[in-house]
Amino acid sequence: DIQIIIMLCLSYLIGSIPSGVWIGKIFYHKDPRDFGSGNMGTTNTFRVLGKKAGTIVLIMDMFKGTVAGLLPLMFHSQANAMLIGLGAIIGHVFPIFAGFKGGKAVATSVGVLLVYNPPFFFLAWIIFLTVLLLSSMVSVASMVGFTIVTVITFFFNDWILTTVAVVLTIFIYYRHFSNLKRIFSGQENLVPFGLVYYL
Ligand code: G3P
Repeated sequence: DIQIIIMLCLSYLIGSIPSGVWIGKIFYHKDPRDFGSGNMGTTNTFRVLGKKAGTIVLIMDMFKGTVAGLLPLMFHSQANAMLIGLGAIIGHVFPIFAGFKGGKAVATSVGVLLVYNPPFFFLAWIIFLTVLLLSSMVSVASMVGFTIVTVITFFFNDWILTTVAVVLTIFIYYRHFSNLKRIFSGQENLVPFGLVYYL
């Protein structure tokens, strides 16, 4: 119905806020997409603009998913938070406010999970950090983390969550195509902690 369409549009607009690009342009006179991996997400913002900007972008990008997931509550609607949150994830990847050249869907997806299933959100973080600690590669942690989280959803008997998780995981692999090429040629950027970095 019309309410769902309005919520999806709002969700898309919220997700379209290109935190990395705006923070980079306003405070550093740099578009993170012109440097490093060319992405506007948390990882590349850390890489290009530093810890402070990276942390703010991580919080903002996650928060976009969280706010979008809260829309059904705000609208007193029964709509599924995960499905409405998809609008924000699409907005983050194809932002109308940044020439449709956006991120890789990781942080915003996790932000939606915070509304949908808070304990699972924390578990997802633990899985992500564990893989990051072993691999020293955020891309690997994102892809493997999403894969493990998706497998876990099969035990929840929540077909909407599982379907969204499967679709998002496939999409996240697709968005990490350039990372996959670097991983398999041993060229992927490492973060300065974790096992692989110190090997
Ligand atoms: O969240 C994106 C991350 O998985 C990889 O980022 O900049 O290394 O391509 P980046």
